[in-house]
Amino acid sequence: MAGIRLDVIEPGGFAETEMVVDGVAESVILHRDGDVVRAWVNVCPHAGRRLDWAPGQFLKSREGLLVCAVHGASFELIDGECVAGPCRGQSLQRVEVVVRDGQVRQADD
Ligand code: FES
Repeated sequence: MAGIRLDVIEPGGFAETEMVVDGVAESVILHRDGDVVRAWVNVCPHAGRRLDWAPGQFLKSREGLLVCAVHGASFELIDGECVAGPCRGQSLQRVEVVVRDGQVRQADD
């Protein structure tokens, strides 16, 4: 599967792509942290909605949390755990990705 170029994601920013997770094509959130990228399925554990307000447009709080655009659940960006809001204590589903030759790819790609 074609990856997404690391340099199109702003440092500290987000992008959205599609990956096959457990055999299902899913929208995936990519978060760039320096040269590391973390990824989660773009499904909020609260009500199962996408977290972006428009495709690939994610909200980040002043505290550096990813905020679900639907009801405001806030997720930390290491483990994807909800630390405030209606699904506190639950987590986003992690997707393993690697950065290789400047491309973000699914780890088992
Ligand atoms: S669906 Fe994300 S906070 Fe409700």
